[in-house]
Amino acid sequence: MMNKNMKNEKLFDMSGKTVIITGAAGLLGSQYAEGLSGAGANVVLADIDYKTCKQISSELSDKNNSENLAIKLDLTNKKSIQEMVKKSKKRFSSVDVLINNAADQGDSKLRKTPFENFPLKNWNHAIDVNLTGVFLCCQEVGKIMVKQHDGVIINIASTYGIVGPDQRIYGKSGQNSAAFYAATKGSLINLTRYLAAYWQGKGIRVNTLSPGGVKKGQDKNFVKKYSQKTMLGRMANKDEYIGPILFLSSNASSYMTGSNLIVDGGWTAW
Ligand SMILES: NC(=O)c1ccc[n+]([C@@H]2O[C@H](COP(=O)([O-])OP(=O)(O)OC[C@H]3O[C@@H](n4cnc5c(N)ncnc54)[C@H](O)[C@@H]3O)[C@@H](O)[C@H]2O)c1
Repeated sequence: MMNKNMKNEKLFDMSGKTVIITGAAGLLGSQYAEGLSGAGANVVLADIDYKTCKQISSELSDKNNSENLAIKLDLTNKKSIQEMVKKSKKRFSSVDVLINNAADQGDSKLRKTPFENFPLKNWNHAIDVNLTGVFLCCQEVGKIMVKQHDGVIINIASTYGIVGPDQRIYGKSGQNSAAFYAATKGSLINLTRYLAAYWQGKGIRVNTLSPGGVKKGQDKNFVKKYSQKTMLGRMANKDEYIGPILFLSSNASSYMTGSNLIVDGGWTAW
């Protein structure tokens, strides 16, 4: 008979599941890859930065004895997205989880650019990556998941998709949040609800994860001000979203769809 611990472990078991992570070369995408590979998943690491994906993929294969695949992906190019999904399906024969994690967040100069003068070119690029890219990934993976009658999609939004950026905390830190970021992340939260509703009865669950800010060597004054706005009094560590991703990817969240899981140290709760 299965004891209680074994039963609990099974809830989060990802053995034999194929997970596509966009933006897998980045700060959080690489953490998700590590967590999911450790839970037994075959991970497709897709990013415009192919070299880093390749390196992470081989490290994970050595460490976890898992099968992983690095793919060059440009989310502004429909063909590139179609190729990425086709290659993933060919290699692993199913696509069980899609994590739409890649994003254009703008460099520090762009983030400081006043809204009134923000270049249309940069706005359009961010919409292409953060919103249209997600739309296209969901379309391509959705075709496979509908046939499988099974699948999970996780859209990565942000607290800035829920509340406005408090201008008092940025100063000269370059951590300002641009308007495109709020517009695209807010859109993802409702695209999630639309798709969860649209695919009802098709075995596909769609949820959002909204993380709060991660500590990564930002300006001290900014970190202090940011931390004061959270109930836990600090920014997140980069590995603190692995648990939420494992939960949303696995059977542990089997009764959850159309939801937004907010993991932000309490930032949006007061
Ligand atoms: N880090 C945070 O504090 C934080 C907080 C809340 C939400 N988020 C969200 O989490 C996700 C990951 O954030 P992160 O901090 O790891 O960012 P990151 O910049 O480290 O990683 C993003 C990745 O997306 C890739 N990318 C960019 N444009 C692309 C394109 N056209 N095609 C394919 N890949 C492309 C980049 O190469 C990069 O590897 C993002 O959606 C971000 O908005 C991050």
